[in-house]
Amino acid sequence: MTDFSSHNPDWWRQAVVYQVYPRSFADADGDGLGDLRGVTDRLPHLAALGVDALWLSPFYPSELADGGYDVADYRDVDPRLGTLADFDALAAEAHRLGLKVIVDLVPNHTSHQHVWFQEALAAGPGSPARDRYVFRDGRGPSGELPPTDWQSVFGGSAWQRVPDGQWYLHLFTREQPDLNWDHEEVREDFRTTLRFWSDRGVDGFRVDVAHALAKDLADPLRDLGDPELSGEQALVHLPPGTHPFYDRDEVHEIYRDWRRVLDSYTPPRTAVAEAWVPGARRALYARPDELNQAFNFEYLQASWNAEQIRAVIADSLATARAVGASATWVLSNHDVVRHASRLMLPPGTDQNAWLLSDGRAPHVDEPAGLRRARAATLLMLALPGSSYVYQGEELGLPEVADLPVEVLQDPLWEQTGRASKGRDGCRVPLPWTTTGPSYGFGAAGAWLPQPPYFARYAVQAQDGVEGSTLELYRTALRLRRKLLEGEELTWALETPPGVLSFARCDGWRCVTNLSDTPVPLPPGEVLLSSAPLAGDGRLAPDTTAWLA
Ligand code: GLC
Repeated sequence: MTDFSSHNPDWWRQAVVYQVYPRSFADADGDGLGDLRGVTDRLPHLAALGVDALWLSPFYPSELADGGYDVADYRDVDPRLGTLADFDALAAEAHRLGLKVIVDLVPNHTSHQHVWFQEALAAGPGSPARDRYVFRDGRGPSGELPPTDWQSVFGGSAWQRVPDGQWYLHLFTREQPDLNWDHEEVREDFRTTLRFWSDRGVDGFRVDVAHALAKDLADPLRDLGDPELSGEQALVHLPPGTHPFYDRDEVHEIYRDWRRVLDSYTPPRTAVAEAWVPGARRALYARPDELNQAFNFEYLQASWNAEQIRAVIADSLATARAVGASATWVLSNHDVVRHASRLMLPPGTDQNAWLLSDGRAPHVDEPAGLRRARAATLLMLALPGSSYVYQGEELGLPEVADLPVEVLQDPLWEQTGRASKGRDGCRVPLPWTTTGPSYGFGAAGAWLPQPPYFARYAVQAQDGVEGSTLELYRTALRLRRKLLEGEELTWALETPPGVLSFARCDGWRCVTNLSDTPVPLPPGEVLLSSAPLAGDGRLAPDTTAWLA
C-alpha cells in the first residue's frame, strides 16, 4: 500500500489532488464570494471523498481581473477571502484530516496593482523600477506602435501603452504585466514567497504558466513574423527552445534554483508545472532537480477514441518515466469546459461556438455526457501517476453553457471582442444542498448564477445514494488506495476494437469500452463499474470496470 503520509517524500507521485477554486467552493461569510473559512468548513467533504491533497487556486489580494491570477501581493490573503490566520487554520485542519495542501504560484506576471508595478509607473522610463517588468519604447515615428507583434493569449496585442509613451508587456490581460525574470530582485522575491508558504506548512506549489518566465529580451526585441506564432500551439512548428517567450531552455535554471529552496524543507516541498508544451519538452519541467511534475493536458484534449487515448497514455507514461517523474492526469480544471459536457461534443467541435450558442448547438445529451465522464474518470484513476480532480466533477457537474452574457466575469469575453464566452461556465459556485440560497454555497446568492438543475447534482442529493457520481468517486478512491502498488501498467494483448484494457498489478485490471456495442469482460471479479453491466454481464458502451 502506498504511503501518503509526510514520512514519504514521494507522497505526490500517485496522489489524487482536488482543485479548489476558492471563489466558487463555499462562502462562509455570506457575501456571495467563496472564502477560506468556507473551504475549512467543507474539508470533511474532501476527507470523505478520499483525496490525498487539495490545491487552492489563488486566494491572494487581487482585483479579480483574471479570477485571482492577477496577484497584488503574493504573501497575503485577499480580505474578501479571509486572513492569514484563516489560511493557517485551513492548513492545520487539512493536515489533521490527513490532507496535503498545495497553493498556486503565479510567477509570470503580477497584478498591475502590485506595489512594484505602481512604482514602475511612477518612476518613469529608464528607471530601475521599470526594469522589474518588460517596458520598451514603441515603434513608428512617435512610438505609437507596439514594440513587437507579440499577441496576448487572451487576444489583441501583448503590449499596453502608458501615459508617458512607453509600452509594457502582458501576455495575458493588461492588468497582468509580465515580470522580467532576468532581474535578480524578481528571482529573490519568489524565493522568499516559496519560503513564506513552505514555512506555513504548505506541502507543494502549482506553478502557473511555468513555460513563459524566461524570455528573449535582447534589444531590439524580435517580431514573430506571424501573430499566430504567439499561441502555445505554435511550439509544435518551431525548433525547440527558439520561441521568444515560451519554453526557452533558460527557464529550467529558474526551477533548478527553486528546487534548492524546496529541498531545504522536510519533507521536500513538491511542485507541478502548468506548461502547455508538447510531451517530451514538457517532461523536462518535471525532472527531479526541478518541479517534480508537469500537468499532462493531452489526456484532457483527447477525443473519446480508444486508439487516441491509448497513444496518449503510452506517450505520457514514457515521457514522464524518461525523466524519473510520475505521470499526471487531468480531465477538468478552471480553464476548460467540464468533461461531463466536453466528452459529448463531436470531435472537432468548436467549443467557443458551442458556448456562444448557449450549449444548444450541437446538442449535448446530458446523461450520456455524464456516462462518458464517469468512464473517463474511472480510467484515469486506474492509471499510474497522480490525478488532478476539479471541484464539482465528483458531482458530475456539467458546464453551465448558457450563462447570460451580462453576468460573464472572465476577461476573455471582452478581450476577444466577445468571440469567446470564456471560462465562467466551469466556475459556477458548487451546489451543496438541494434547496436554500445558492444551494448551500452560502447565505447569500452566488457570484455567478446557478441553474435550477444544480439541485439534482448537489452533494446532499448524492450523499449515500447508491450509483450516484459522488459515491462512485468515493468508492473508486477508497479502492484505489487499497489496490495501488508500483507504477506499472501492462496492456492486455488482445482486446476488441474500441476497448482499452490493462493491468496495474496482480489483482487490479481496468477495462474501458469506448465502442458502441457491449463487450465481454476478462475473467475476474468486478470490483466497481462506472455504469451497470449489460444484462448478460458484458461491459456496456461508455463504461469502465475495475476487476480483481
Ligand atoms: C493559467 C491559469 C489561468 C490564467 C492564466 C494567467 O493558465 O490557469 O486561469 O488565466 O494562467 O495567469
